[in-house]
Amino acid sequence: MTDAPLQIVILAAGQGKRMRSARPKVLQPLGGRALIDHVLATAEALLQETGSTASPVLVYGHGGDELKAHLEGVAACRWAHQAAQRGTGDAVAAALPLLEPRGRVLVLCGDVPLLRGSTLRALLATPHEALAILTASVDDPTGYGRILRAADGAVRGIVEQRDAGPDQLAVREINTGTLLIPAARLAGWLGRLGDDNAQGERYLTDIVAMAVADGVPVVGVPAADETEILGVNDRAQLARCERELQRRLAERLLDEGVTLRDPARLDVRGDVSVGRDVEIDVGVIFEGRVVLGDGVRIGAHCILRDAIIGPGARIEPFSLVEGARVGPNSVVGPYARLRPGTELAQDVHIGNFVEVKNSRLGTGAKANHLSYLGDAAIGARVNIGAGTITCNYDGAAKHRTVIGDDAFIGSNSSLVAPVTIGEDATIGAGSVISREAPPGGLTLTRAAQKTIPGWQRPRKKPAS
Ligand code: UD1
Ligand code: CA
Repeated sequence: MTDAPLQIVILAAGQGKRMRSARPKVLQPLGGRALIDHVLATAEALLQETGSTASPVLVYGHGGDELKAHLEGVAACRWAHQAAQRGTGDAVAAALPLLEPRGRVLVLCGDVPLLRGSTLRALLATPHEALAILTASVDDPTGYGRILRAADGAVRGIVEQRDAGPDQLAVREINTGTLLIPAARLAGWLGRLGDDNAQGERYLTDIVAMAVADGVPVVGVPAADETEILGVNDRAQLARCERELQRRLAERLLDEGVTLRDPARLDVRGDVSVGRDVEIDVGVIFEGRVVLGDGVRIGAHCILRDAIIGPGARIEPFSLVEGARVGPNSVVGPYARLRPGTELAQDVHIGNFVEVKNSRLGTGAKANHLSYLGDAAIGARVNIGAGTITCNYDGAAKHRTVIGDDAFIGSNSSLVAPVTIGEDATIGAGSVISREAPPGGLTLTRAAQKTIPGWQRPRKKPAS
């Protein structure tokens, strides 16, 4: 490659007043990640593809500490501080000391998260001496800078909404805010920017007319579709971007062969990887890293966060699975809660209103109703009766419960940890077990049953 390496500047100094939020706009969440994470991911992919080793330059102003804390150790970027928000031209000028006057500089906005790599590649395919503008033709151009063209179609400049005359306001071709600029020209153009405009700002867009005057070719490249240029200035636009992102993610899952009962009723806030013939009912939310094996079925209104679900397993409706691993052909729910550190082997059944935390259940173990299993190692084929509780916490420390293979825990038992139940042991219903229950035998703690014959229940006096 003879071209000088691509350099990228991301503008993120704006306060985002219209979000009415305490946090910097570019840290608002979209699909479970911050807006800036999406833009940085796009930028990094592009740099990698073009063989550029220059990390993106982030222009920040408000909330710098929060921004740095968020990106620390996650993304390699260089930081340029813009002390006061005097316009997009001033923002790029803040990045100038970190840029080399070679090749081209791609300017991205930190609040435009849905740009596709393919669109940016089309921008990069323009002649390398040109200034290229990513444009879009929109039904409602309100708020955007308008692309001004000469009679022969050549781009003459960009005029901002607030500076535009009536004819210019009627133009529906807009500046998306994404520009690719010959780096050697940048300092000169930025140095000539004035602020004699309606907003008293130094507009980056004014360099377009300068380029035309300097005889630098200017090309407008239309974006593939209108959704990818959506910017986030307020909550309504953020919500619109979220829907669009979710639509794309659902489409990707469909392409991968997943059955979605309704692609519009699924939310992916992280990464999902799927095997074959996975089925997902409505209202499901995936967060963090989720892996679904072949033939997995997820019932309606489940939330899966950082979970690995083995082949053939079923998560029944209204279950919450977090930080857990579910083995092949296991069944969880409805209304189950698996908390971090849960590991279910094969063919395990966890039923309604069962909570499992930091526990392992062996192959074929069952806890079908109303239980709390915490810090427990539970063997194969163990049956946990309804209402069983591991009393794992003494007010100061957590303790373990160990239950051997084939044990049977009678309903409504309390297992006071630390405690061990031997293999094939049976615990009588209603017991409070605080010492070891030996293998094989029946262990129970239960007051003897007695009957008081002829006992009279108190009765209400008849109304007089
Ligand atoms: C800008 C463009 C407009 C385009 C629109 C697309 C200019 C003058 N106008 O307008 O032509 O149609 O984007 O969305 O460029 N920023 C800074 N420092 C500043 C000002 C802005 O870092 O001093 C950042 C913002 O955080 C944001 C980006 O630059 O990420 C765009 O700024 P914004 O104020 O939203 O520009 P628009 O008025 O939308
Ligand atoms: Ca904007």
